Amino acid sequence: MEPAAQLDAVEHYTIQKLGSDHTGHGLDHIRRVVKMTKRLAKDESIDEFIAIAAAYLHDTIDEKLVMSVKESQNELREFLRKIDFTQEQINQVMDIITKMSFADTLDGQRPELSPEGQVVQDADWLDAIGGIGIVRAIYFGGQHSERIYDPSIAPRQNMSRDDYRNLNNETIINHFYEKLLKIKSMLNTAAAQKVAQHRQQVMLDFLEEFKSEWNSEC
Ligand code: ADP
Ligand code: NI
Repeated sequence: MEPAAQLDAVEHYTIQKLGSDHTGHGLDHIRRVVKMTKRLAKDESIDEFIAIAAAYLHDTIDEKLVMSVKESQNELREFLRKIDFTQEQINQVMDIITKMSFADTLDGQRPELSPEGQVVQDADWLDAIGGIGIVRAIYFGGQHSERIYDPSIAPRQNMSRDDYRNLNNETIINHFYEKLLKIKSMLNTAAAQKVAQHRQQVMLDFLEEFKSEWNSEC
């Protein structure tokens, strides 16, 4: 199979797996991550084919979205074999998508990623910050019955992986301090760091405005 046809097949696989997702991992997120992956890849000497395939597939094995992570990984490997990915390419893609999530960086370790993986991780994380990041946090928080804000609850410091998944007493505003504002300094590539500068300011301005309004100061 030609590479372009392989990527088409990968896109269709993703649509089939995530097309009905309403947790903020829907196809619109995937399309933005693919687009940003292509943009960031321009400045890096990486295998763009692997990066784009991983960008499409990165949420299809997510623990929050599938019944069994192991089974979804096996199914994905089988699918990639069927569309003529080499064993090496399959390993490259799986290595990226099993190690790139924010949750993987908690518990005091951060898995090492290939140059392709570093670009896809940046593209995914950029989609969690800025204006889109604000909306996704509110969308996620609303779906999980988080309160918007409670000044008496301090943001959690040094969250573990379990803390991150534990939404008891979580507020949407605290999520910014626990994760979203930290992303800027965790990005891998210079191009992503540049994009993040503006997005960070958008979040900081939003938080300042929110708190002023909360206190009837403006
Ligand atoms: P990742 O793709 O790195 O695993 P998640 O799947 O945990 O990230 O998060 C998906 C989206 O929901 C992101 O935009 C993230 O910031 C947001 N989100 C995750 N946890 C919370 C939370 N407790 N409150 C509000 N938004 C959240
Ligand atoms: Ni994602």
